[in-house]
Amino acid sequence: MNLTLKIWRQKNAKDTGKIVEYPMTDVSPDMSFLEMLDVLNQDLIDKGEEPVAFDHDCREGICGMCSMFVNGQAHGPDSMVTVCQLHMRSFKDGDTIFIEPWRATAFPVIKDLIVDRSAFDRIQHAGGFISVNTSGNTQDANSIPINKHDADTAFDAATCIGCGACVASCKNSSAMLFVSAKVSQFALLPQGQVEATDRVLNMVQQMDDEGFGNCTNTGACEVECPKGISLENIARMNREYLSASFKG
Ligand code: SF4
Ligand code: FES
Repeated sequence: MNLTLKIWRQKNAKDTGKIVEYPMTDVSPDMSFLEMLDVLNQDLIDKGEEPVAFDHDCREGICGMCSMFVNGQAHGPDSMVTVCQLHMRSFKDGDTIFIEPWRATAFPVIKDLIVDRSAFDRIQHAGGFISVNTSGNTQDANSIPINKHDADTAFDAATCIGCGACVASCKNSSAMLFVSAKVSQFALLPQGQVEATDRVLNMVQQMDDEGFGNCTNTGACEVECPKGISLENIARMNREYLSASFKG
């Protein structure tokens, strides 16, 4: 396939940035999207030009690093996949493909397609954990019975990979889907009850402090989430928050 790539190039956080056009020839439909970018970068390096900076790590849909817009859609045209799981067979010969970084005040661009998502880390630090006695007297998790529905729902929430597509797709740059997944995975389990009140209050406070917008129930986050995280988690987090506010 022959393609035209239009890629956002930005030297650093202060640079204004611009779209730069790159023609690509002989692209195999069996390549992954990131392999196609690898080929482009090797070509740029061979020509003595600066390669396109983009985040990636696992390349199998579990780390959440490969976050970018492809033709205006978070993680590209396929649903329930990350960019690293996207293949060039999803495009056709002659296509023009726009590739851009996430756009959100709380995710400032560092370089080219790489944004700073450390706001998510700080939200996690604010409460996305449980405290367990690890002195050797830790209770075996299997000795605490949990009904299957709650276990499955908690597991589904825990599949959030922190990619940020929900924020980038939201007209308000809201992080509610991400934060609600992180709250829900503990709210549904007995292990999460001890710190439940502080967790939801602190995580929501940190989310607001980081400059994420409010949720207006548009639902774009759920549609674009590569892990199918449900809006039901937002409703659960709102209930948790209301109850914690009365207790706290
Ligand atoms: S909720 Fe979905 S889109 Fe948002 S960070 Fe988690 S996996 Fe990514
Ligand atoms: S590189 Fe890890 S999810 Fe894409």
